[in-house]
Amino acid sequence: MAAARGEFSSRFGFIMAAAGSAVGLGNIWGFPTQAASNGGGAFLMVYLILAFCIAYPALMAELIIGRHAHANAVEALRSVSRGPISRMFGGATGITGLIVASFILSFYVIVSGWMMAFCLNSMLTLAGFSEAAAWLIEFSLPRNLFFMGIFMLLTVGIISRGVQSGIEKWSGRLMPMLIVTLVLLVLYVLTLEGAMEGLKVYLVPDFERAISPSLIVKALGSAFFSLSLGVGTMLVYGSYIRDDENLPLVGGMVTMIDIGIAVMAGFLIIPAMYVAQHNGVEIFTATGALISEDTLIFTVLPALFQTMGVAGVIVSIVFFFLMSIAALTSSISILEVPVSYTIENHNMGRQKAVWTIGGAVAVLSTVVLLNFSWMFGLVIEVSTRYFQPLLGLVMCVFAGWVWNRNSILQELKKGDAATESGWFWKIWPGYVRTVCPIIILVVFVNYIWA
Ligand code: PHE
Repeated sequence: MAAARGEFSSRFGFIMAAAGSAVGLGNIWGFPTQAASNGGGAFLMVYLILAFCIAYPALMAELIIGRHAHANAVEALRSVSRGPISRMFGGATGITGLIVASFILSFYVIVSGWMMAFCLNSMLTLAGFSEAAAWLIEFSLPRNLFFMGIFMLLTVGIISRGVQSGIEKWSGRLMPMLIVTLVLLVLYVLTLEGAMEGLKVYLVPDFERAISPSLIVKALGSAFFSLSLGVGTMLVYGSYIRDDENLPLVGGMVTMIDIGIAVMAGFLIIPAMYVAQHNGVEIFTATGALISEDTLIFTVLPALFQTMGVAGVIVSIVFFFLMSIAALTSSISILEVPVSYTIENHNMGRQKAVWTIGGAVAVLSTVVLLNFSWMFGLVIEVSTRYFQPLLGLVMCVFAGWVWNRNSILQELKKGDAATESGWFWKIWPGYVRTVCPIIILVVFVNYIWA
């Protein structure tokens, strides 16, 4: 059955695909901007703690459940249930996940479209078409709609090809390039005036801010968004992993790559903000809040590239191209959640499922664009800050309480016969059962009461 559903052909293929899903706008647009507007170092510190201590165990819950069930999220959560009530609850969680995934995709394709528009802008500038180029970076409804549509078509095009030839091939090729470009850009920005101020903001935590309930909720949401958790993406990707793969190991690698890139992007974006400020770009309001948070990197990065002269145009092309690709390897993983469910549970062909769901989400994106001023931020906040961690909590409960512990062990043993005596098995089962759910709950209760 697994082969008929498609699976990743190699360990590298899976890691690249899962890291491709994880690494995207969350790392380069989401995390650094959130860090910059929430006390820099304080946010970084809380983010790192939550990512390793809560998000990684939750990721493992999804991967293990997915690989065991070799099915979409709804079916998988039902199949690890032991009674009618938990079965119903599992199904409901899966369905909620795919609805939330669709909402995430609706804003994701908009921002990804901006990345493409900025890439094209630099290409046209290089070719000497500066007037057409200007239209591409001006915030307008036609531009936003157009690029959202194009990006959605690309996502749909790749997903309609299935797991191996679509998802795996693309992720493996372009991810390494993104990492190299990022490192080079970080090295460059740090040589510029103003960068050190940004570096200080990023690295020196203000402990008082770090305990603020709203900062903690934001950092938790950021970690879950960045690692693609809660909505079933990692569960579905887990379902395409081969049985002989060592899950804790590959999950750990994906986590390291994702967090590593987010932290590195912070080293680029936050200093770049201060460099831009140094060069006269306004980035903070009088009260110290970031000006237009959602689009800020589209101001500061082009300003940074401008400091490089002609070379900057090329760097800009490369950077926004790679960002578009990073976004694409994430958007396909989001779309795969509702698609895999529709194919497997409603007996629809892949093509038809992909086009129908892709079309529906494009309509949703259009509604968001038409009501941008209030809807854009709201959709992001509700889906990523609240739903992702709370759904992640339910996944932990399924792995820790609902599913039989012995089956989990058997599942892990398929990839590593010595699992039972390893550190993962000693810590994770109890941890995901108690510590993870309790901490997620405490974070939210603390936030609501504060
Ligand atoms: N992790 C992706 C990013 O950082 C976004 C994502 C969220 C992907 C949810 C899948 C599911 O950009």
